[in-house]
Amino acid sequence: MKSTSFTLLSFSLLILFNITWQTVLADGRPYTVKEGHKVDSDTYLGYKLYRNWCARCHGTFAQGLAAPSLTSSLKSLDRSSFIRIVSRGKKGKMGVMPAWQSNQEVMKGIDQIYSYLRARTDGALGNVVPELNK
Ligand code: HEC
Repeated sequence: MKSTSFTLLSFSLLILFNITWQTVLADGRPYTVKEGHKVDSDTYLGYKLYRNWCARCHGTFAQGLAAPSLTSSLKSLDRSSFIRIVSRGKKGKMGVMPAWQSNQEVMKGIDQIYSYLRARTDGALGNVVPELNK
């Protein structure tokens, strides 16, 4: 009897903390997506910059092309490694990623690009052209 109620209590706590954790995580995410495609202004700017500067190698929606899929890469790359690679570039098995540190437009919008790619990686935003949520 005692152990049953203890198990029940543990389960309730687990569910409670799980929900709280997800809420915190959702709030801490650097983007908002409504109806699957309406995004906040930062994420929208990030998408535009991505399309201008990155899509020709990494694919229209970051799904990968001549360069790796960034929605896969960002599963293991954190924000600071992402910023380091984008500014300094990278030479690897797939080829050469140019350094962007002298491109003011990319460097000023790097957080916005990250937001867009994070929304794509988390699955909040699919292979769709996002719309600015007004
Ligand atoms: C001229 C083609 C080209 C363009 C344009 C380009 N990249 Fe890349 N990028 C590459 C290649 C090739 C690699 C893979 C290098 C390697 O072999 O590891 C890469 C790798 C990366 C990586 C590391 C991925 C990983 O898994 O290690 C990131 C992050 C990245 N690119 C972001 C960007 C962003 C953001 C932009 C736009 C500002 C951009 N790239 C534009 C070619 C490009």
